[in-house]
Amino acid sequence: MRATDIIAKKRDGKALSGGEIRWFINQYVAEALPDYQMAALLMAVFLKGMNGGEQAALTDAMLHSGRSYKPEVFGGSAADKHSTGGVGDKVSLILAPLAAAAGLKVPMTSGRGLGHTGGTLDKLESISGFRTRLSDEEFLAQMDELGVAMIGQSPDFVPADMKMYRLRDVTATVESIPLIAASIMSKKIGEGISSLVLDVKTGSGAFMKSLEDARRLAGAMVDIGAAHGVRCRALLTAMDQPLGRAVGHSLEILECIEILRTGEGMADLLDLTVELTAQMLFLEGKYTDLGQGREVCRGLLSDGSAYQRFRRMVRAQGGDLAMVDEPSRLPRAERREVIRAGTSGFVRRLDALAIGKLVQGLGGGRAVITDSIDYGVGVWIERKIGDRVKEGDPLVTVHHNGRGVEGLERRVADAYEIGEAPGPRRAILGQVDPST
Ligand code: URA
Repeated sequence: MRATDIIAKKRDGKALSGGEIRWFINQYVAEALPDYQMAALLMAVFLKGMNGGEQAALTDAMLHSGRSYKPEVFGGSAADKHSTGGVGDKVSLILAPLAAAAGLKVPMTSGRGLGHTGGTLDKLESISGFRTRLSDEEFLAQMDELGVAMIGQSPDFVPADMKMYRLRDVTATVESIPLIAASIMSKKIGEGISSLVLDVKTGSGAFMKSLEDARRLAGAMVDIGAAHGVRCRALLTAMDQPLGRAVGHSLEILECIEILRTGEGMADLLDLTVELTAQMLFLEGKYTDLGQGREVCRGLLSDGSAYQRFRRMVRAQGGDLAMVDEPSRLPRAERREVIRAGTSGFVRRLDALAIGKLVQGLGGGRAVITDSIDYGVGVWIERKIGDRVKEGDPLVTVHHNGRGVEGLERRVADAYEIGEAPGPRRAILGQVDPST
């Protein structure tokens, strides 16, 4: 086979065979093809798309490019949830220990934040000592003992994705549904899971700005999962405003600890976490009734079982438990500034993207993957969409260390729209199951 023939075939809008896709990926990972030829293929895929068979073959080739797990290592079944990312999306931190407390095995591989969205690994690392890199032996032993581990991707795990993602980042080929679907699904299937719940977000703070695109991405991912024998379901959820109250690493950990401890918290975050966990239990066949699953999850949050599982996971992964037991010990910014409403009414809009960018500018996010993060900075949202506000009421509290605070009041005011009627509180907008 010749790389130029394969690139030309895709350039001309034709479907590639499984063999061609496999050959191209294998050659690239073996460094027998240069970056510029992979970049050309990625752009051809970006422009011409891929059919379902091509997407499944691409995922398969990426999945087999390095080390991966099979469900057998976890006793035959394991479950996970993946979110396409948003602002203040801290669901995984509550869901993973909760699902384990409900009896599932949850081998969760997460990513780091880039741009305006935060990463689960970075949030966990705001607990000092927390190790997101475990040896294979440590990881499997922890899965055996606790049923949950939250780790990063090691270099030999699905290496095709790491190499291709770096290239996509600098060749304007990230926002392609087949490439995103294969990237996410190769890593998730490689975890060795038997079922997966996808949280595909749409709205200002999400990758997919329109519901239609979110539905297409969800459809592509659940079909890839089904083609690999993984039971999959996607929920389409709103990312118009930040999820919960906290945006920023240690503030988000604080919010999660509160929910894990008490079973109570901001309804949008709590309800979505419970729903996604109940869907995992349903797909794994623990309950045939979603309502029962939800009830079990709420019970495990309010009786402290999920919290205890979280504590045990933090201890197993080297995190400082004193920070969990006394969250005031988590990294904190030196200064706080309360930004108040300039007018009375109802919150109609609270732009997730604007808040995400604000936190990134405070030092809470990366422009490039090698940037370091200020864990203590962030925004605590005091008023959310639908809330009534009076002039002078606090809208947000900004936690900062003096960086990125130019025009803070104006930027917060621009992120909010306050009007006479409350804006819509959107949450779960749809569900997508495999087409076959
Ligand atoms: N997240 C991923 O893991 N891959 C993508 O391509 C986009 C988001």
